[in-house]
Amino acid sequence: MGPGPLSQVLRQFAQPDFPGLMVGLDPADDAAVYRVADDLAIIHTVDFFTPVCDDPYTWGQIAAANGLSDVYAMGGTPVLALNIACFPDCLTDQLIEVLRGGADKVAEAGAVIAGGHTVIDNEPKYGLCVVGTVHPDRLITSAGAQPGDILVLTKPLGTGIIISAMRGNAAPDSVRDNALAIMAVLNRQAAQALSAACATACTDITGFGFVGHASNLARSSGVTLVIDAGKVPMLDGAYDLAADGIVPAGAHANRQHFGCGVDWNATDPVLTDILCDPQTSGGLLISLPERGLEAFGTGVSGRDGELCTVIGQATPRQDRLIVFR
Ligand code: CO
Ligand code: CO
Ligand code: CO
Repeated sequence: MGPGPLSQVLRQFAQPDFPGLMVGLDPADDAAVYRVADDLAIIHTVDFFTPVCDDPYTWGQIAAANGLSDVYAMGGTPVLALNIACFPDCLTDQLIEVLRGGADKVAEAGAVIAGGHTVIDNEPKYGLCVVGTVHPDRLITSAGAQPGDILVLTKPLGTGIIISAMRGNAAPDSVRDNALAIMAVLNRQAAQALSAACATACTDITGFGFVGHASNLARSSGVTLVIDAGKVPMLDGAYDLAADGIVPAGAHANRQHFGCGVDWNATDPVLTDILCDPQTSGGLLISLPERGLEAFGTGVSGRDGELCTVIGQATPRQDRLIVFR
């Protein structure tokens, strides 16, 4: 759902006090977290969506990477996943490929798929319900960012724009292939580096776009995020496609809902669309002290390291949650 209608629904439900519940709806975070022992909490999350590409195996991989991401965004380790599939009976071959892609990605994460549930549906949907673990002292929520922290984004933006272009056959092959490959990358390395980097807050960038998820992190932490708009990484081809007007409806909904908390300053309107673009299997937005940056860089190597970018800094809370400069 869009951020407006969803918040209208969730407003009706107060989070009951419940022993052991460390993270629930108030404030909402990437996943629910429940303490089962002094040294063990479980992270629980569910995510599923319609196809992002024609190839079912690739879609399965991306949906699984996206589903696992909320566990990583809390500093956790995924251990167990269940499939959720809504599929018409006539597409069994495709469903087999989707599930194969999901299972391979979950195995890459060091976790296992141990079951699932299917529903007959003309419009296919696939995703995961994931259980992860974390030591309660090492749980990282959206709420801990400190003034002075450095902000790191671990994947470039623009997946929603490129998926829209793919649906209209407007994305060049190289643009498509690069975007799909990056969507399938696990946020695992960055998640594993959070502790050594003394990260104070983290969230993953998904349907509410960069502005939405960054606003939530800023609000929960009581800080303002000052972002160097020119440093925000974009997928190859995303800018040109957005400049051609290929911008998903969700980007406009995100801008409408979160825009009042944002000082855009002189941000180029095309870049604004990219900053509001709903992401599929986006990167982590990490807040960490400057002294943790070196340890973070050491922990995130290869292509994952190349994708990470320092994009700004947290400051004491100002009028707006996000300020672009
Ligand atoms: Co999330
Ligand atoms: Co999610
Ligand atoms: Co989080």
